[in-house]
Amino acid sequence: MNVLVLGSGGREHAIAWKIAQSSQIDKLFIAPGNAGTGQEGTNVDLAVDDFEGIKALCLKEKMDFVFVGPEGPLVNGIHDYFLADDEIKHIAIIGPNKEAAQLEGSKDFSKKFMKRHNIPTAKYQTFTKDTLENGYAFLESLKPPYVLKADGLAAGKGVLILDNLPEAKAELKSMLSDAKFGDASSRVVIEEFLDGIELSVFVVTDGKSYKKLPEAKDYKRIGEGDTGLNTGGMGAVSPVPFAKKGFMDKVENQVIIPTIKGLIKDGIDYQGVIFFGLINVKNDPFVIEYNCRMGDPETEVVIPRLKSDILELFEGVATRTLSERDVEFDDRTATTVMMVSGGYPNAYEKEKSISGLNGIHDSIVFHAGTKKDGPTVLTAGGRVLSVTSYGKNKEKALKTTYDNVAKINFDKAYYRKDIGHDIVEEKK
Ligand code: AMP
Ligand code: GLY
Repeated sequence: MNVLVLGSGGREHAIAWKIAQSSQIDKLFIAPGNAGTGQEGTNVDLAVDDFEGIKALCLKEKMDFVFVGPEGPLVNGIHDYFLADDEIKHIAIIGPNKEAAQLEGSKDFSKKFMKRHNIPTAKYQTFTKDTLENGYAFLESLKPPYVLKADGLAAGKGVLILDNLPEAKAELKSMLSDAKFGDASSRVVIEEFLDGIELSVFVVTDGKSYKKLPEAKDYKRIGEGDTGLNTGGMGAVSPVPFAKKGFMDKVENQVIIPTIKGLIKDGIDYQGVIFFGLINVKNDPFVIEYNCRMGDPETEVVIPRLKSDILELFEGVATRTLSERDVEFDDRTATTVMMVSGGYPNAYEKEKSISGLNGIHDSIVFHAGTKKDGPTVLTAGGRVLSVTSYGKNKEKALKTTYDNVAKINFDKAYYRKDIGHDIVEEKK
């Protein structure tokens, strides 16, 4: 089989790493990829939103599957673009169509969906610039902190959590009347704050049935002790010790099954990954958000725990035979720590040469923001490398990861030293 992976982060390297191990793979391409994906297959210098360029590549290389890493091309309709073209409609896109991707592309759409299907989520209302005054009144009816969400995609920055009412009102006005996030904030969802611990749950669906992937916990803040600015994610752990059977049964019965059934009932055809951003409030799951793709860095711990052939899963999605496929997981814990460029998520320098990569043997180094310059690997982004290890338990996996992180160096490298420290697990 010939497969194209779209994207250039640690998530895409982890997916490419797994595909490269499949007995069914003939040719693997990654667009645009990074220095790490270039070790798994052939990088092609194409942007993820260059649909015409992607079509040409797929025709030239007789592609069987396209796995779409980031949400952008899905929300912009890459799946529909392929289906509408006789020359490429036989090529399976692993990722939902434009309508289904609205689960991530529009907060208002996803909140309405959850409400319609009785899926537990925070109480909310949606406002536009014409209903700003009603928005103020709704804020007054809530207790602090206040959660404001731009309806559309805003590069991960569209959610504001504010401690006091005047600030919340000012931000609401700035989002609606002054287009703080451009068109993405022409509608704003205001919701009740939920206090609890978050986790990420993933399922693969072919539109009829689903398979669960392992859950993961992600660390979003830049600073230790979950302080400072939000990032794309600074590390992850899977499995999540507090996600015990009783809780995960609630997730399945109250969230996953109603979501799959709701999609079918609404006539929304979903082929791909659904990422449930959940919060555990006193042992009950609530949906914070849906994403229409895998998480990053969650993928860097979830995919290493997948024992079965990933192309089997893709085939199941493409031919809607997922229920007939076997999926097996590794019982071990996987942890990952993200090494980032100093200054990230604000401004940072690039093109720093990375040393120590050849000396890593018992961890997997997934590349995120890297590029090749001759034999040298250079930094090329904020999140640079994700160092993943297995262990019998979380402590052992983390020890291996941190031992190896210490061997890798680039100017102004930064990483969190407390990944996984907040979660307690029973000794194995
Ligand atoms: P989202 O983009 O919707 O995932 O929101 C970004 C982050 O904001 C989440 O990962 C949570 O940490 C936080 N968040 C969003 N909605 C809520 C809420 N209703 N209550 C508490 N925290 C929230
Ligand atoms: N790690 C969170 C995300 O991928 O959105």
